[in-house]
Amino acid sequence: MKNIVILISGGGSNMAAIVRAAEHERWAERFGARIAAVVSNKPDAGGLAIAGAHGIDTAVVPHKDFATREVFDEALARVVDAHSPALVVLAGFMRILTPGFVGRYAGRLVNIHPSLLPAFPGLHTHQRAIEAGCKVAGVTVHQVTTELDHGPILAQAVVPVLPDDTAATLAGRVLAQEHLLYPRAIAGWLADTLSHIR
Ligand code: GRF
Repeated sequence: MKNIVILISGGGSNMAAIVRAAEHERWAERFGARIAAVVSNKPDAGGLAIAGAHGIDTAVVPHKDFATREVFDEALARVVDAHSPALVVLAGFMRILTPGFVGRYAGRLVNIHPSLLPAFPGLHTHQRAIEAGCKVAGVTVHQVTTELDHGPILAQAVVPVLPDDTAATLAGRVLAQEHLLYPRAIAGWLADTLSHIR
């Protein structure tokens, strides 16, 4: 069985979309894959309860308990490695990972970022897209490398930026696409058909 470990920091709506897809699309039968665990760096992450309700193992590794990024990442890796992951999925995981962590999961670590990378890496992507006068915005699923929001692009989806958009309305439109794209990209990765995902 290919174990997938999902890392979250907050509401976990992307994680929930992946969990729902795994159930409805029968990833266990079709790909021999399952969501083995959901791990948060924040004890109050809403996504933990959602994962628990689906019978998925959950764990918290509170970053505040660790003096440096390095020791936090080592503790996080121990929890992740307990599930022998084939794939580690960052889904709204709001910590910058150390090169040691990224290297450990090279080729099996993916992230979703709410912009059309390479435009707008980092935070406040929707506000920045509006201020730049972009006519389209979107979302990117990419492999994680040591440079923040820069790994090879696996899949993207595009949405319009409308004249009256605020960061919040644009974020909502993008998030709806995130919930479609991330499960599709992971299913594509599992089926080895990612080059066909658009
Ligand atoms: C998403 O927009 C994700 O792309 C960004 O943070 C948001 C997390 O949402 N990095 P959720 O926790 O998946 O609901």
